[in-house]
Amino acid sequence: MAERIIILGSNGQIGTELVAALRKKYGQAQVVASDIRKPQSVAGDTPFELIDVLDRKALHLLFTQYRPTQVYLLAAVLSATGEQHPRQAWDLNINGLLNVLDLSMEYAVKKVFWPSSIAVFGPHSPKTDTPEYCTMDPTTVYGISKLAGERICEYYHNRFGVDVRSIRYPGIISWKAAPGGGTTDYAVHIFHEALKHNTYACFLSADTTLPMLYMDDAIRGTLALMDAPADQICIRSSYNITGTSFSPAMLAGAIRRHLPDFTITYVKNDPRQAIADTWPSSINDAEARRDWNWSPRYGLAEITADMIVNLKKTTNGKSI
Ligand code: SER
Repeated sequence: MAERIIILGSNGQIGTELVAALRKKYGQAQVVASDIRKPQSVAGDTPFELIDVLDRKALHLLFTQYRPTQVYLLAAVLSATGEQHPRQAWDLNINGLLNVLDLSMEYAVKKVFWPSSIAVFGPHSPKTDTPEYCTMDPTTVYGISKLAGERICEYYHNRFGVDVRSIRYPGIISWKAAPGGGTTDYAVHIFHEALKHNTYACFLSADTTLPMLYMDDAIRGTLALMDAPADQICIRSSYNITGTSFSPAMLAGAIRRHLPDFTITYVKNDPRQAIADTWPSSINDAEARRDWNWSPRYGLAEITADMIVNLKKTTNGKSI
């Protein structure tokens, strides 16, 4: 049977690239992109449906119309924006997920993907080589909603048999679409500013090391998880995965290999620093490697080279 796939939140940093990858794999018509706003370029970008995942009725209609075999729920409020609007972040991140899980059960959707985040960890989690299972005391509403979401995903799997799969994404670096409202966004902004102005004012301190993943790896990993046989998926909350870890100073050093005059300054007292300080600096992803053969391809040098080549080609260094 042909797959029919719905991506909810298709305009974001991950959605933009996941839609393209899924259309390549399954065919354009099989993949319905959907978001609360129209995409910037609608031409050729069909099928597309406007949808608010909190609108249960509209979501119901969408499921009735397309009878999806797979659903990817990417609509979310991220860590920094969540601190400005905690109630909305909780509402979208939790009730959006519950709506999708309920409908997936009702419509016997074969597989559901929902992303979690390194934000599920907190100040009492091990800081380095953070394992899959450990103390988790997230301090942001985003992290709290992701941890609750992980528990509810596992619950829907165990209790109702929903085949839901999830990855705890670290910071994701990409050049096609901008990230929105996260703490790790600096690692994308820095490239745009480097190419445009040869300098960047970073909102995290020089030595704030965070786990990161290049988009190519993130998409490849997501498709691998979704392709794995159900009985190999031992974790129904969410899998740790990581690409590499670096600090702003290390990233600036890697950029300087391509742009020798690049400079970086550090802005103190940004609220995102306090968020980053509670997150792991590196992640242990042994379970993902064991269960579905996860392994990243891009390290710091490869990410930097690929970002610069592509941004030079596509934007001429203009900010997105
Ligand atoms: N990139 C996300 C954020 O910074 C982490 O999941 O909020």
